[in-house]
Amino acid sequence: MSDTAELKFNGNTYQLPVITGSENEQGIQISNLRAESGLITMDPGFKNTGSTQSAITFLDGEKGILRYRGYSIEDLADRSTFLEVAYLLIYGDLPSAEAFAKFRQEITFHTLVHEDIKKILDGFPSNAHPMGVLSSLVCTLTAFYPKSLDPNRSWDEVNLSIIRILAKMPTFAAWSYKNEMGHPVIYPDNKLDYCSNFLRMMFGLPTDNYEVDPVVASALDKLLILHADHEQNCSTSTVRIVGSSQASLYSAISAGINALWGPLHGGANQAVIEMLEQIKADGGDTAKFIAKAKDKNDSFRLMGFGHRVYKNFDPRAKIIKKAADDVLNKLGINDPILEIAKKLEETALNDEYFVERKLYPNVDFYSGIIYRAIGIPTEMFTVMFALGRLPGWIAQWKEMRENREPIGRPRQIYTGPQLREYVDLNKR
Ligand code: ACO
Repeated sequence: MSDTAELKFNGNTYQLPVITGSENEQGIQISNLRAESGLITMDPGFKNTGSTQSAITFLDGEKGILRYRGYSIEDLADRSTFLEVAYLLIYGDLPSAEAFAKFRQEITFHTLVHEDIKKILDGFPSNAHPMGVLSSLVCTLTAFYPKSLDPNRSWDEVNLSIIRILAKMPTFAAWSYKNEMGHPVIYPDNKLDYCSNFLRMMFGLPTDNYEVDPVVASALDKLLILHADHEQNCSTSTVRIVGSSQASLYSAISAGINALWGPLHGGANQAVIEMLEQIKADGGDTAKFIAKAKDKNDSFRLMGFGHRVYKNFDPRAKIIKKAADDVLNKLGINDPILEIAKKLEETALNDEYFVERKLYPNVDFYSGIIYRAIGIPTEMFTVMFALGRLPGWIAQWKEMRENREPIGRPRQIYTGPQLREYVDLNKR
């Protein structure tokens, strides 16, 4: 395989080095192109632009492959736990039993948040969207742990910031929901595992002895594994680019949460349930909504369908579809919107419009159905996604720092007016 590409422009030939990854993916290195030729490359939405070399997640959108640090998502979802996967993503390898016990103990130790953060939480109106509350609370950590502001401090300090955010995120996530409900918050119970502790803080009341259903805790654990990383997507790129200015880990994660919020990214699972509810309320005619999605004069899109990278199938969607069936069976729930979702999928997969454009269900098509079955309200879905994606964001931030990557700063082609003469206000 050649390790140089040639670009011909205006009678000149430019040699561009080609980089090859460990799965033989290749990219043309254009960093010096502007200095040599005056040219930049244009790629709105970065659809075909590599921003980094990363050893964390490999995905092949054509073959439907997703691996964290070389381990298949199927194996991890089937055999691992979310905390183990978090360790794997952040530190690069699966932990030994001893290393894992230490990691879990450290995370358990830091679950409690400063009482003054509760006062900040109290300042939010009770109908505040939990995503806004979550990103604010995460950013507040910069105030409570000022040493975290400098990402160039010792590794022990940086690692402590990592442990703190992993430990406190379930507390923040559950409290953002309690705030929305106007209910008193529940403090963490460090005897419980990561997901059970979160569920108790979500659904428990100070006056009851809330027992976590192990079926629900295990379903949640699987969902979080499936969302833990997905290489250079919108929110992860945001985390890396904010971090590249040497802003703190907490501010980078807070920015990532905001990037995840939109309906074209993490907000899609909420949009899927709203769409399925809309179809149900309209009488359940899936064909009518498929037609709307295909109509270019109609802004309606089939939410949970299509993916920037997966153009064959989303491996996470396969695992989740089965998990949705399992969880609903185990909990004895018969949710009519699951049937609508399956019918919609079947119709779309046999429709030329979707086949031609390689539009398949993505991870969010079925995740909302599981969240609903385990009692998570719709507006909390994106928060759940953020909880799952946290280890990926941390791993990507850490890698970006360790690689000493330069500050992110894309170029542009200017299309505005050329130099104009300024006219004073009183003469316009
Ligand atoms: N419903 C109907 N048509 C669609 C859909 C959809 N869900 N998705 C894409 N298309 C069509 C587009 O209209 C376009 O058609 P055209 O070629 O005739 O103009 C074509 O398919 C390509 O679509 P793009 O928007 O160019 O694809 P892109 O890769 O930029 O977008 C995205 C991917 C944003 C995920 C898109 O498919 C979408 O909006 N899906 C619905 C939202 C969603 O589920 N987001 C979750 C993504 S997964 C995640 O973030 C975890």
